[in-house]
Amino acid sequence: MSWRTIDRRTVPLDDLDPGLSAAVKEKIRSFFPRYPTRRAVLLPALHIAQDALGYISLRAMREIAELLEIPPSAVLDVVAFYTHFWTHPRGRKTIVLCRSLTCELMGGGRVREALEQRLGIGEHETTPDGQWSYMTEECLAACEHAPCLLIDEKLHKAVQVEDLDRILVDAENDRLDLPRSTLFDAPQET
Ligand code: FES
Repeated sequence: MSWRTIDRRTVPLDDLDPGLSAAVKEKIRSFFPRYPTRRAVLLPALHIAQDALGYISLRAMREIAELLEIPPSAVLDVVAFYTHFWTHPRGRKTIVLCRSLTCELMGGGRVREALEQRLGIGEHETTPDGQWSYMTEECLAACEHAPCLLIDEKLHKAVQVEDLDRILVDAENDRLDLPRSTLFDAPQET
């Protein structure tokens, strides 16, 4: 992740960052009955916040801390640990390239080099036109299709360097659709 330096004496955080809507806070609260403690809701809460805002703002971290009754530093610790969470706005589409063993053995390193060259950016950065953000992650659980990458939630499998132009021109032009996970949807009333 990359870090921003903020002078808290002169810049109120609320002026910089979007916060969580009432609906998003309610969705996080709806997870409380599923877990033994509020602290245990932290990961779902972060996913919900990132789904809503596109990233986890400092204000969102503080609001999640209030909801879960934990220190803001505990929220920041978890956000900083997982590369999946973004602390700054992303481009219109996010490319997630697998960097784990199977994909590396199948040529993922070459794909990574070519992709970074084409985009002209490094990890957790966004192209100047705001179109693409880029990062790598550990195994995407599609090893049989190595090397693979995700664009938003679409999996591109067996990606070769020659495929990158096609994929970047039309990110829908993939070979396998994966449905949106419902894991983080609110629990049903019983
Ligand atoms: S190692 Fe790349 S998807 Fe598993």
